[in-house]
Amino acid sequence: MRQYPSLKGFASFDELLMSDIDAVVIATPISTHYNLAKQALMSDKHVFVEKPLAHASGYGRELIHLAERKGKMLFTGHTFIYSPPVIKIKELIDSGHLGDVLYISMSRVNLGLYQKDVDVVWDLAVHDISILLYWLGEVPVRGASFGRACVQQDKRDVAFLWLEFPSGIVASIEVSWLSPQKMRRTCVAGSNRMVVYDDMDPGEKVRVYDRGVAFIQPQTFGEFQLSYRMGDMNAPYIGSAEPLLKEIEHFIHCLETGEVPITSGEFGVQVVEVLELVDRTKIGMPQPKYASVIEDDSRG
Ligand SMILES: NC(=O)c1ccc[n+]([C@@H]2O[C@H](COP(=O)([O-])OP(=O)(O)OC[C@H]3O[C@@H](n4cnc5c(N)ncnc54)[C@H](O)[C@@H]3O)[C@@H](O)[C@H]2O)c1
Repeated sequence: MRQYPSLKGFASFDELLMSDIDAVVIATPISTHYNLAKQALMSDKHVFVEKPLAHASGYGRELIHLAERKGKMLFTGHTFIYSPPVIKIKELIDSGHLGDVLYISMSRVNLGLYQKDVDVVWDLAVHDISILLYWLGEVPVRGASFGRACVQQDKRDVAFLWLEFPSGIVASIEVSWLSPQKMRRTCVAGSNRMVVYDDMDPGEKVRVYDRGVAFIQPQTFGEFQLSYRMGDMNAPYIGSAEPLLKEIEHFIHCLETGEVPITSGEFGVQVVEVLELVDRTKIGMPQPKYASVIEDDSRG
């Protein structure tokens, strides 16, 4: 408040909900999202909830129905969807520049920050899942995860996820809180071109490689030939727009126009459903994903 003296403060969430503000942003631990969002919608506020929307898809669906009933907007804070490199790759995929997407591999690793109420999948893989759903416009039909709780007994701090989409595209996601180096690297392999997206690269976050392998139909029995294409690498210009600012601008734009947000409540629930999908086939440890559970969902 000292930094932003013009801001109005409230002594409690209840007091805030009784005020005449139009919208509420919920950026609290994941296990609290559902209760706080529900109370805000019940108080006729538009709601922005940080990712992931809720700790279970059923609660997320309930929030969507409540928002519809109240005529209010439910927005999920999947910030990467508003980041220029992610938008650029979406353009490259949708325009057919890459050809057919064959597979996508993603790594998001660093040292910490350990979260109190979720494991590394519900903390970090959420970003990659949201990016995949945005790029591909489809939800996976199969998924699994394999991981280990190395430091704390009940929470995986390293995990590997595998997803398969209806189009046949397969994806892997590696996430870790236990890695000496910070890495944010994604490879999108297409039948015509391949993209490497390195979010840690200060200059060239997106590199498009005109490279690939083609199978040449054998003309004679016993002939087998592959042709390797080693073309140029191109790093397209990516604007320097701040994703969080873009996200908030989109939130306000949707409030003013009634447009459905890119990261709507529905999009947020789809991400949670993928988290649940990979949790159902969790290999490596049997513990529940939450150290704490919702204590009070009787309000509102
Ligand atoms: N979109 C992104 O890139 C991004 C990045 C980081 C975190 N997040 C999300 O933001 C949320 C918060 O993460 P964080 O790392 O800032 O957590 P944090 O634990 O550092 O901060 C959470 C804040 O919520 C407050 N809080 C806790 N329970 C509350 C309650 N019942 N009512 C009101 N306030 C309460 C705490 O006092 C604290 O100030 C999480 O959902 C996380 O997934 C999103």
